[in-house]
Amino acid sequence: MSGPARFVLATANPDKARDIEAILAPLADRLELVDRPDDLGEVEETGETLEENALLKARVLCQATGLPALADDTGLEVDALGGAPGVYSARYAGEGASYAANVAKLSAEMEGRSDRRARFTTVAVAVFPDGTELLASGSVAGRILEEPRGGNGFGYDPVFCPDEGDGRSFAEMSRKEKNALSHRGRAFRLLAERLAGRLEASAGS
Ligand code: IMP
Repeated sequence: MSGPARFVLATANPDKARDIEAILAPLADRLELVDRPDDLGEVEETGETLEENALLKARVLCQATGLPALADDTGLEVDALGGAPGVYSARYAGEGASYAANVAKLSAEMEGRSDRRARFTTVAVAVFPDGTELLASGSVAGRILEEPRGGNGFGYDPVFCPDEGDGRSFAEMSRKEKNALSHRGRAFRLLAERLAGRLEASAGS
């Protein structure tokens, strides 16, 4: 009987990596996460959809390491902005924009708007050396706050208030509370269900 199946985590974003590690922690006996090699540059997100970008990242890491790879791509869609920033969420305020600059641009675009509905969507993928690709998507609906609130989390968390919560922004929640409701939590828990057969097979081999 061998140990847990090893997967390389394709994300170069430490904030996302910590969320994913926490979400998958209950599977630690069957699924071990390995950090991406430091010398591998960031994979350019040239796809036009979350799915394409997640697959691009996972395929590169799988090929570079010979290990199955996990990746995600996330977008924030704001109804009043026609679904923007969507797949361009990381570079909303320009290439290489900071979280603060992206939040400032979103707040400026939303000023005076009464329709503040928005949703986060994550597409999580697993790519295996044999070419198998598994995908799962997760979303959370909410609204864009008029003022940023809270010091936890990252990205747009201070201005996103999920509908299913208690009125706090994601940045006012603990990581555990956020992951229980979040787009990323939902996508990776569903992906883990889809991976279950392969994890059992590996643990039993
Ligand atoms: P990525 O392309 O999946 O790395 O994510 C795009 C951008 O969306 C990131 O740079 C963050 O600004 C934002 N983002 C991704 N996930 C989250 C989250 O869980 N909360 C808040 N913002 C996020």
